[in-house]
Amino acid sequence: PRQEFVSELISKMTLEEKIGQLNLPSSGDITTGQAKSSNIAKKIEDGQVGGLFNIKSVAKIKDVQKIAVEKSRLGIPLIFGMDVIHGYETTFPIPLGLSTSWDLEAVERSARIAATEASADGINWTFSPMLDISREPRWGRVSEGNGEDPYLAGKIGAAMVKGYQGDDLSKNNTILSCVKHFALYGAPEAGRDYNTVDMSHIRMYNEYFPPYKAAIEAGAGSVMASFNEIDGIPATGNKWLLTDVLRNQWKFKGFVVTDYTGIPEMIDHGMGDLQTVSALALKAGVEMDMVGDGFLNTLKKSLDEGKVTIAEIDNAVRLILNAKYDLGLFQDPYKYCDEKRAKSEIYTNGFRAEARKIASESMVLMKNDNQLLPLKKSGIVALIGPLADAGNNMAGTWSVATNQTRTKSFKDAMKEVLGNKVNVLYAQGSNLDYDAEFQKNATMFGKDLNRDSRTPQQIIDEAVAVAQKSDVIIAAIGESAEMSGESSSRTNLEIPQSQRDLLEALKKTGKPIVVVLFTGRPLVLTNDIDKTNALLNVWFPGSEAGYAITDVLFGDVNPSAKLSATFPRSLGQVPIFYNHKNTGRPLANKEGKFEKFRSNYIDERNEPLFPFGFGLSYTKFDYCNLKISTDKINANQKMTVSVDVKNSGNYDGKEVVQLYIRDLVGSVTRPVKELKGFQKVLLKKGETKNITFEISVEDLKFYNSDLDFVAEPGKFQVFVGTNSDEVLNKEFELVK
Ligand code: IFM
Repeated sequence: PRQEFVSELISKMTLEEKIGQLNLPSSGDITTGQAKSSNIAKKIEDGQVGGLFNIKSVAKIKDVQKIAVEKSRLGIPLIFGMDVIHGYETTFPIPLGLSTSWDLEAVERSARIAATEASADGINWTFSPMLDISREPRWGRVSEGNGEDPYLAGKIGAAMVKGYQGDDLSKNNTILSCVKHFALYGAPEAGRDYNTVDMSHIRMYNEYFPPYKAAIEAGAGSVMASFNEIDGIPATGNKWLLTDVLRNQWKFKGFVVTDYTGIPEMIDHGMGDLQTVSALALKAGVEMDMVGDGFLNTLKKSLDEGKVTIAEIDNAVRLILNAKYDLGLFQDPYKYCDEKRAKSEIYTNGFRAEARKIASESMVLMKNDNQLLPLKKSGIVALIGPLADAGNNMAGTWSVATNQTRTKSFKDAMKEVLGNKVNVLYAQGSNLDYDAEFQKNATMFGKDLNRDSRTPQQIIDEAVAVAQKSDVIIAAIGESAEMSGESSSRTNLEIPQSQRDLLEALKKTGKPIVVVLFTGRPLVLTNDIDKTNALLNVWFPGSEAGYAITDVLFGDVNPSAKLSATFPRSLGQVPIFYNHKNTGRPLANKEGKFEKFRSNYIDERNEPLFPFGFGLSYTKFDYCNLKISTDKINANQKMTVSVDVKNSGNYDGKEVVQLYIRDLVGSVTRPVKELKGFQKVLLKKGETKNITFEISVEDLKFYNSDLDFVAEPGKFQVFVGTNSDEVLNKEFELVK
């Protein structure tokens, strides 16, 4: 029925109406009451708009939909998109943070809640999940992805698609997902946003493509082309990428949208004028033009001149109408515009409670000397730092739908949770950074953060005086929300200097210090880690941040998150990632000491400060008895890997048990380790669990130099452990 319905509709459409469906302008000046007279309204009426994005609320969306349905000749409903990236009004940790939960159910639940809220407010399409692998902490958008590992990111991508789209897209509480940014956007040269990407195909297929592919296999209905070039051709005009790989190899059936002005940006890339690049995009496999007006203004001319075909235009229209059909918009264009749902299904207490729980599961305990944490719920705490009283800094990048003025600051939430059991003293301690730097780019350093106009020394002195009255210091420091995300690349990966000076001064008080670190990227903490006794990395935890941090610091939740991206020891090591190649000259010594004419640095070790998969708990987990069911498998067999994990500490806790493999000999070089499985398990204090994994030949496959996906007979190692570095291992062989 879909095919018939859509074909019939296409047969009634004029060329202008067809091109109109391919156009996605931003909502611009549309607000209730103005909709009818706005510029866009006229375009909608004339059938020149296929969808709109970043327009919020049932009232506004209904108003605009009405124009499309009642005023345009064929009454084709619009699709409404938005960047619902890590929640809608209830916000969850930034994606990089969420990925450190290694909890696929929690990830799916967060997407389900986001879809429920967004769809209750008129939205039926989200520009998420973002599945760009990145080993580039300089790149600000590392915060929006799932870190450096293709396996973990693929699992998360599939879980998010399921959460957004459910099992039936036509339900009124599910929304269309959009896999982005296709492809390789996370590998810009020098970590500078929008910069050139140049990568071998074998690396693309083995290391960067898998998460996009996993999400497409999970049924994602749309894909967004990335800004960067691939093999010298911008993704937006890259036929190999959008047609050969995406459609022909991966059998993608949905539609492709450009990123914001992706088509006209190809003029600056040097690919030709607007007409040329618009035709290039259509022929490459783009169906929808976000904000570029390239399709709208040039496709007719290109058709007349024989530069594109009507079949190409019809095909694009069909894919967009298919999506509208699948969403149920032809049955009821207002199905996502239910005022009752908007009142009862957004920012509910239930959703906020889930967000608090998920946030607490996404905080990585990176240091905890002498079991300083969890803190006792008594005594005097000095809460110090520019991020302690900054409610609007808690949600992080891409929190466009939420009202951040409602978010409690860490200080206020902590006081609310602890009541008068703990005496919480407060001082700002420093500005986010020193004035000169701050003024260089005020928005980058947090336009909404409080600025204290006293001298830096006066601000620190006050904080030290407060700290001296306390039993323990909690230093809430790190990046402001604006320091990561789009267009926020950095060349310095340390905590801003004013806060490092604050930490130094606090250390001199001799009081125990807990750093609560806010960050949207892996930072270089080498020069600061010794100044603190404990460090909890909270990323940007979302709308329930303060409550969730308090839950972890005071022991109501035992931290269980594990890094999804390596934390470098120094900036010069970047890019640094666990699944690297061995090289022909690896270090021979295990201690990481310098060796001449081997692959290392004269001034730094090779190892990172914190490896992929790392994260502590308040309890302790011991691994022993690693066993494999056989040391030889063939292509039809499965092998069981088992290990005993014992909770030998003093608290119940969750552990992420991680399984890696290494292919020791291949027709192409293989990484020293690759994640191939993980399980997050709850272990009661004193409990031992036998954890088992299955390995089949599928887990041993990779893309060879012909880009065939193969498993090659030979020796492998399997590793199981608490992070990518601390592992037990066994050897086995894949036989013919
Ligand atoms: O979805 C985003 C994308 O990630 C970056 N450019 C703008 C798009 C729409 O807001």
